Parts: sequence; structure tokens; C-alpha cells
Amino acid sequence: MITKNIPPIAYLGSAADMDMRLEVINEDDLEDSTREFLSALLREAFPHNARQYADRGYLRLRPEFRVLAYSAGADLIGQILAFPAPARNVDGVYGFGDLVVVPGYRGQRVGESLVLRCVDECRARGAKAILGSMQRASVQSVLLRIGFEKVSAFRVVRKHDDVTLTRDSWWLLDPEAMTPARIEMDVEIF
Ligand SMILES: CC(C)(COP(=O)(O)OP(=O)(O)OC[C@H]1O[C@@H](n2cnc3c(N)ncnc32)[C@H](O)[C@@H]1OP(=O)(O)O)[C@@H](O)C(=O)NCCC(=O)NCCS
Repeated sequence: MITKNIPPIAYLGSAADMDMRLEVINEDDLEDSTREFLSALLREAFPHNARQYADRGYLRLRPEFRVLAYSAGADLIGQILAFPAPARNVDGVYGFGDLVVVPGYRGQRVGESLVLRCVDECRARGAKAILGSMQRASVQSVLLRIGFEKVSAFRVVRKHDDVTLTRDSWWLLDPEAMTPARIEMDVEIF
């Protein structure tokens, strides 16, 4: 399905303004104390989704992996997570979300570095298309810069009547790879 050779995109982004380290960790290997810390950080950033973060530590689907950012002093300062997205009609779709940076470290390109690393990791794991849900204008500028497009080939379908709904906050990388197919998800998930 993919007709073009897509290079890793991390080099297209800018380096973080601070000394930091990124780590990719499978969800199964995440320590409970780390999960708790991240859950608290997400609850604070997104109080309207506090219940999901308190109950299970993520908003939509169980992550396959997270990318964690650590300061030079080894403090955990941010995360993003990604999951295989169960499309109805195509394989190889990953979604990412739950991006958050510790307040004192914001504005130093930690968020951008997390997004770039996450996208590279999705590709390394075989992603043919990557969906990101990003509502904040700040993060959308990062997605635009690395080639994401506002979704047009992404349908969210209501199971009982097959009605298609739109989702304003979703962005898609590699839409060409999906043509002419369209990505269809169940609305219960997205
Ligand atoms: C959104 C968030 C993850 C961004 O992380 P960050 O490390 O501060 O962001 P970065 O420094 O990598 O900057 C990314 C972009 O946001 C812009 N930005 C950063 N802080 C900003 C601010 N306070 N106001 C406006 N723009 C800002 C940067 O200029 C950059 O845009 P540019 O590349 O066009 O210049 C972080 O602010 C956060 O955790 N917010 C609360 C949770 C949240 O909103 N998550 C994302 C949901 S979509």
C-alpha cells in the first residue's frame, strides 16, 4: 500500500531546548509508581477526563507503548502514548495521544520531541498510517510541520445505524498510503 519511501521524521523537528532523554517503554513494562505519577499529571492537565485516567491511566485504548521524557536530573517530565487502532477496514493504523509535559518544563520543546519520537516508533512497529488527536493549537503546529493532515479519510461509524460522524481534533500522517481506502473506526472507541 505504501508507495513512497518515508524517512524517519525526527530529523525534521528541532532539538529540545534542554538536556533531556527519551525512553520508549512497552505498557507491560511500566512500573506502577510511574503509571501513578503519569495518571496524576494527566488528571491535572485534563480534569474532564480524570475518571478514565484514575481508573486505567489512559483515555482511549490501552497503549502498546509510551515515550517518556526525563530531565538531565532523571526526573520524569513528560509522556505520550500510542496504541494499535482497530480500524474496521485496514491494518496497520496506530493512534497516539495523552501527551503531557510537567508544567515547569513546558515551552522547551519537550512536547515536540515526544511527538517526533512517538511517530518514529509507530513506524518502526509497522504503522502504515498514524492518527493523532491533538486539540491544542501549539501541538497542531508540530503535526503540520511533520506532514500530518487534518483528517478527511477517517470515518467514525456508529455501529447501530452506520452513520458517519466527524471528529475535529484528529490528524493523520501518510493519508496517501490509505487511498483509496478510508479508515473506519467505531465511534465507541473514537
Ligand atoms: C501541550 C504540551 C504537551 C506542549 O508541550 P511543550 O513541551 O510545552 O511544547 P513544545 O515546547 O514542544 O512546543 C510545541 C509548540 O507549542 C508552542 N508552545 C509551547 N508553549 C506554548 C504556550 N504556552 N503558548 C502558545 N504556544 C506554545 C511552541 O511554540 C511550539 O510551537 P512552534 O513549533 O510552532 O513554535 C504542554 O503544554 C502540556 O502538557 N499541556 C497540558 C496538556 C495538553 O494540553 N496536552 C496536549 C493536548 S492536545
